[in-house]
Amino acid sequence: MPFLQEFHNRVRELEREPERFADALRGKLLATIFYEASTRTRLSFEAAFQRLGGGILSVPDAMGQSSFKKGESLSDTMRVIGGYSDVVVLRHSADGASRLAARSARVPVINGGDGRLGHPTQSLVDLATLHREWGTLRDKTVGILGDVRHGRTARSLVWALAASGARVLPLPAPGFDWEADFEKRILSRFEYRVSQVSHPLFARWTGNPVARILEPRGARQGQLFLDDAPTLRHLDALYITRLQFERLDRKDFMGAYPALRPEDLDESLMESTLLLHPLPRREELPPVLDGDRRSLYFEQARMGPVVRQAIFLATLRPDRWALPGLRPMPAGREEEALDSCPNENCISNLEVFQPPAWRVINRPRAVFLCAFCDAHFPVTHVGCRSSKRLHPLHGPEVTKIHAENLQPFASRDAAAARGYS
Ligand code: NCD
Repeated sequence: MPFLQEFHNRVRELEREPERFADALRGKLLATIFYEASTRTRLSFEAAFQRLGGGILSVPDAMGQSSFKKGESLSDTMRVIGGYSDVVVLRHSADGASRLAARSARVPVINGGDGRLGHPTQSLVDLATLHREWGTLRDKTVGILGDVRHGRTARSLVWALAASGARVLPLPAPGFDWEADFEKRILSRFEYRVSQVSHPLFARWTGNPVARILEPRGARQGQLFLDDAPTLRHLDALYITRLQFERLDRKDFMGAYPALRPEDLDESLMESTLLLHPLPRREELPPVLDGDRRSLYFEQARMGPVVRQAIFLATLRPDRWALPGLRPMPAGREEEALDSCPNENCISNLEVFQPPAWRVINRPRAVFLCAFCDAHFPVTHVGCRSSKRLHPLHGPEVTKIHAENLQPFASRDAAAARGYS
C-alpha cells in the first residue's frame, strides 16, 4: 500500500533529520479546538506544528471557553476559526463532527477524535509504533481488548490494520462489541473474512474462550485454522482500551471490565505480545506491567508528535512532502432529500440549521450512508420521483425506476408525507 509505505518513510526521515524540517511551516498557523478533554492528542499536534516552525491558536476547553457557551453552532465557529488559521484540529463528542467542520472551515480540518467513531491520527501513531518494531504489519495478529463499541481508537485501528493486511482479533468486554454492520463494512471493503479461534485467556477477558478473527480472504491457512475454533498459539500485539464511561448510559454497564494481570503475560500465547494502549489508562492496565519488555504504550505516546508532523507536512506542503492516498472526506454523489440520520449522536441531529446529507454508494444496489457519521439510511420503500408511486424496497417495480428518479424512504408514512402513494 503506497500510502503506508511513504508514511513510514516520512516518519523515519523526521526522526533522523529533524533539523531539515524545522522551518517547513514557518508563517503558518494551526488552530486546535477541543470540545472534549485531551492531553496527548492536542499537545502532540501542537508540539508537531511548533517543531515545523509554525504558530498555534489553542482552544483547549471549547465547551467552557468558546462561543459554544453562547449557543454558537459548530459550523459557524469553524467558519470563523478557519478564517484565522491555515489548518484546524478538532475534537468533538458528536459522531461526524469533523466532516461537518470540514465543510465550513475552508481550510483543512484534521480529526482529533470524533464522537465514538474515529481517531485516525491515533491509528497512524499506533501503526507507526508497530511498524517500527516489525517492519511490516502483514500477517501479524493484533488483539483489541475492552470497550470496542464506544472506543474510537479501536474502530479506527481496525480499519487501519485491515488496510495494512494484519489479522484483527476483537476481544470486546461483555456487551461492548461493535455493531455487526461496522464489521461487515470492513470485511467487504478490504476483502476480509471472519474465522474463529480460542484460548482460555479469552474467557477471562471476555467471558468466552472463542473469539472472532478478521483476516485477508487470500491469507494462507496456517496451523491456526485446522479446526472450527483452534487454539490461537501466538498473539503479536494486544491493544488494550479503557471503558469509555463518558459515552455510556451508566445503566449499560453491569459486568466486570477486563483488566490485564501480570500472570496473563506468562501464557505462551503472550510470549512476545507487544502491549499497546492509546492512554489514558485505568484499571485495565496496571502500572506493575510498565517495566515489562513487551510494554510499548509510553513509546507509542512518544510517537505522537512525529507522526503528526508527517500529517501536517502532507496537508500544508504537498509540493514537497505529499503522502499519496491521504484523502480528505469520503467523496461520492450526495443525496439531500432523505430524512434525518437514525444515529442520535450524529452531528446532523445535534447542530441547529443542519439538514441531513447522505452519500450514495452503489454496490450493486444503492446504499445510503450518512455524509457525517456513516450510519446507514434504513430504506424500507422506494418512490419514483416522476410518477410519485411508492414500492417496497425489494419489490420487482424498483428495478424499473431510472436511477435519477429513485427516492428512498425510511417508512411508508415518510413517503406519504411527501405525496407518494
Ligand atoms: C483516546 C481518545 O480520546 O479517544 N485518547 C487519545 O487520544 N489517546 C482514548 C481514550 O480517551 O480512551
